[in-house]
Amino acid sequence: MLRFALLLTLLAGGELARAASPSLMPLPVTMDAASGKLAIDRNFTVNAAGCSDPRLAGALARFLARLSRQTGIPGWNRPAAGAVPSLAIACAAAGPPYPALEEDESYQLDTRPSPALLQAATIAGVLHGLETFLQLVQPGADGFQVPAVHIQDRPRFPWRGLMLDVSRHWMPLAVVERNLDAMAAVKLNVFHWHLSDDQGFRAESKLFPRLQQLGSDGNFYTQDEIRRVVAYARDRGVRVVPEFDIPGHTTSWFLGYPELASAPGPYEIGRHFGVFDAAMDPSREETYTFLDAFIGEMAQLFPDPYFHIGGDEVNGKQWNQSARVQAFAREHGLDGTLAIQTYFNQRIQKILLQHGKIMIGWDEVLGPDLPPGTVIQSWRGQESLADAAAKGYRGILSSGYYLDHLKPARYHYGMDPQGGPAAGLDAAQAARILGGEACMWGELIDAETVDSRIWPRAAAIAERLWSPRDVADADDMYARLEVASRLLEWTGVQHRAVSGPMLDRLAGNHPAEALRVLADACEALGLGNGRRGSRYTTETPLNRFVDALPPESESVRALERVAARIVASRVPDPLDAAQLRRQFDQWAGNDARFQPAAAENALLAELKPLSKDLAMLGATGLRALGDLESGHAAPEEWIAGQTRECARMERPAAEVSLAAVRPVKLLLEELARRSRKAAQ
Ligand code: ACM
Repeated sequence: MLRFALLLTLLAGGELARAASPSLMPLPVTMDAASGKLAIDRNFTVNAAGCSDPRLAGALARFLARLSRQTGIPGWNRPAAGAVPSLAIACAAAGPPYPALEEDESYQLDTRPSPALLQAATIAGVLHGLETFLQLVQPGADGFQVPAVHIQDRPRFPWRGLMLDVSRHWMPLAVVERNLDAMAAVKLNVFHWHLSDDQGFRAESKLFPRLQQLGSDGNFYTQDEIRRVVAYARDRGVRVVPEFDIPGHTTSWFLGYPELASAPGPYEIGRHFGVFDAAMDPSREETYTFLDAFIGEMAQLFPDPYFHIGGDEVNGKQWNQSARVQAFAREHGLDGTLAIQTYFNQRIQKILLQHGKIMIGWDEVLGPDLPPGTVIQSWRGQESLADAAAKGYRGILSSGYYLDHLKPARYHYGMDPQGGPAAGLDAAQAARILGGEACMWGELIDAETVDSRIWPRAAAIAERLWSPRDVADADDMYARLEVASRLLEWTGVQHRAVSGPMLDRLAGNHPAEALRVLADACEALGLGNGRRGSRYTTETPLNRFVDALPPESESVRALERVAARIVASRVPDPLDAAQLRRQFDQWAGNDARFQPAAAENALLAELKPLSKDLAMLGATGLRALGDLESGHAAPEEWIAGQTRECARMERPAAEVSLAAVRPVKLLLEELARRSRKAAQ
């Protein structure tokens, strides 16, 4: 078997060679190179004679539309009757009409002409195979083409999700739909829709209309829109698992139905973030009657057998303060918050069962006597996943996959659902780990910025959940992630496109060039990771520099690679040195261009020190590079002083991190090493 990307990394180490190879994400189980190529030109045709699934026609139309966007080729011919198509598709069986957890998602793709052949067990594999095909399309010597390869592929885990919180900030339908397209492009297959929380109730209930009327500020999905999303996702091979978070995180329910709460209220829609005291009253039979009817209504809207009840972060304050709840607890022998919540969960689980649903909840629901069959979503650490699996429950991993923390893709990529404490499980226990979900919590995002907080990092998580476990080289992942990130924009998500206009908006009438240079040198910090949710409300504008930046700077990562090569070589490659020098020069001169633009601009004021630091880094980098090139021994005091400055600059400022420090630090560390060696 040939692993193209890995092989070329080993052979060449050069970025040009790697760019020309197929760059797939997630990487398939096997990919063998063959000779030849399939031309993607106006004569390209596709035919799916061997599949009867009603989703196929739509899938092919979308495939051709994407192929048009990716290549700029305006349209495609239908294959003439009896003619051999360029790509022929065959399914072994019809498969279930709605995507199922147990579905065989495997496919086999052979792009040797002609015809190229995509074979799959069901439509699920066809959808995955078409996405792989689209990732293979590249410009070549004769125009767009697909290299001849033979791919056999199937997922490692059946549950590969993305959770989107639409409560903290409203996400219009278009946001949901374009993210479903992007999910399908990287073979994610579960859309976990966090539909209610303290800050908003986002689904229409016809039985209990005050839920959305009073709990949503007018921002909710109608039942028709929900059905549309479910169909949209289904057509793309994605299951939709709704979450209605109970008994905590429920303030928005209580505006319309305060009798559900454990304290009388009055209640207002949450504007701040964090853990609220509001919790449903577990002691009143009417609570369960209400939830029975509500869940019954929602069960009709969401065909998936799994139904998420949240269950996280119940602080117990309202329960402790309610004489009624305390009396109920004593009567039922429930000792403390956890025991009361376990009682509540058991009641809810029975209700779900009556509506044909399987319960899934955050890891707090893993209490004693949790009904078998419940699925645990681990978020507070990997231990709960291993613990759940050992106790006979199935589970999915989200700890380590919190996109809102804005950690690097490398961090998420290193988190394996069967790693850490789960590594000690036996085979039967490990098999209960169904996969994982990337989580996009909504405190610090809005419809404008959400894509750039999900993508491209969620693609690295998608690969962790799809590809074989030994696909784990983070450098190789990044090389492919950058390609995947560009391709993802053809699906409709705007994670790359959004930054430019946001920076222009900050610059106003001034040219944004200096701001762009600063932006490329910085990275946005995330919740709990240099950015505090308590400083924000749902009404805080998310229009600052930090909001316009991606969490990882591709250009700084490229500079780090160049700096690492320079450090590793006795004589720096002149092209590498020239690239670094050009960048350092630009940084060194950037502050003089930035300060006038920032002079009378309140939105840019917080960046003035950052811009000065970038200029200083540029100057330091120029000198360090010169010393490394010339072999000149830099004075120890200078190295030590600059190293201290770098440590200072690594601290968060304006809720961003000055990523540009990293390549400069690499050079300084090497100078220090050489200086120590010379002194020996
Ligand atoms: C959670 O992050 N509260 C599940």
